[in-house]
Amino acid sequence: MDIDRLRAETPGCENVTHLNNAGAALMPQPVLDALFGHLWREAQIGGYEARREASERLDAVYDSLAALLNARRDEIALVDNATRAFDSAFQALPLRDGDVILTSTVDYPSNYLAYLSRQREIAIEVRVVPEAERGETSLDALTEMLREPRVRVLSLTHVPTQSGLVQPAAEAGRLARDAGCWYVLDATQTVGQMPIDVEALGCDILASTGRKFLRGPRATGFLYVRRERFGDLHPAIVDVHSATWTGPDSYELQPGARRFEIWEQNFAGNLGLGAAADYALTIGLDAIWERVRRLAGELRARLGSIPGVEVHDRGAERCGIVSLTVEGVEATEVRDRLAARERRINVSTSTVNSARLDFPARGLTETVRASVHYYNTEAELDELADAIEEIARAGVASSPGPSPTA
Ligand SMILES: Cc1ncc(COP(=O)(O)O)c(C=O)c1O
Repeated sequence: MDIDRLRAETPGCENVTHLNNAGAALMPQPVLDALFGHLWREAQIGGYEARREASERLDAVYDSLAALLNARRDEIALVDNATRAFDSAFQALPLRDGDVILTSTVDYPSNYLAYLSRQREIAIEVRVVPEAERGETSLDALTEMLREPRVRVLSLTHVPTQSGLVQPAAEAGRLARDAGCWYVLDATQTVGQMPIDVEALGCDILASTGRKFLRGPRATGFLYVRRERFGDLHPAIVDVHSATWTGPDSYELQPGARRFEIWEQNFAGNLGLGAAADYALTIGLDAIWERVRRLAGELRARLGSIPGVEVHDRGAERCGIVSLTVEGVEATEVRDRLAARERRINVSTSTVNSARLDFPARGLTETVRASVHYYNTEAELDELADAIEEIARAGVASSPGPSPTA
């Protein structure tokens, strides 16, 4: 991997040390060209006309995403973000009173809220599969829980928003398949940082976003639906794009996953998304994953050796997200001090509101989230570690220490 070239193709690298790739990664030039190029054409010749002019390239976006996921082009729908992708498929699942949804301790909060909100219409039950020793969903417990015939859905988040843990998603998929239940996978934090193969994962539905490790534009996302499942899924929103109005009492849904799209779309964003998928495929997902894992491992080792800093990632397999706390300094304070003008290091934070079933059990309320991508350098990791060491030293010096009665 030619890191110098990849960084030269990433304008943001000149301005910031970007370790917030789990928030939104820096877009590379080909993505910007696709995005701005289309917006410019919209301004020059009109939005509808620019769409017609770009129809072949827009069509090719489905091929790019299908290649990225090892899917077929009719199994892909382009939507605004991962939440829309997840929700539109989840709302369409043919569930009945008494059905059980299995999920994990580290599901994305909006997904969990979707389960709870569906309970307003139907009496579904949500059960959380316990963790194995290192924090992943326990496959033994999952096997046991799948024996219950009322289980209709297994819904997992491949990598949670708040830590580097990677779920054993393919193994879980095999168990879900054997049990004959739906398998819904939130791959928002994994697409773009590791190879994703829907056949190997065995998922029926996969939701993801453009802006994170895939390096696409904001407010782009996509949904994968396994072809064999099309007929079982009726979208909650039906419009002139997702269906054809065939008569006063009838309509026909689009035959494929595009039944989950609606007519008006961010076409510039979609072209940018396709360019991001092509860019990742050109670099190679195996190479990306190897480098991300190595950089994150080095960062964890470096941070873990700093007095007052604790690294919180668990899991046998860990990804580019590194979560940490600094003794005596709030996570938002750490983030803001890193972002200060003299440093310009971007990280983000996670709070218990995103991790209700995870943080309390580990005694955490908030963490700093540093997330590396392949275009980050060892020098940038040193920069981050040095800055955190400085913040930790100042934090420990100013913290009041344990109270005598504690
Ligand atoms: C694991 C996971 N799932 C889903 C989402 C939601 O993605 P989006 O904001 O694109 O809807 C996020 C966002 O942080 C996430 O981390």
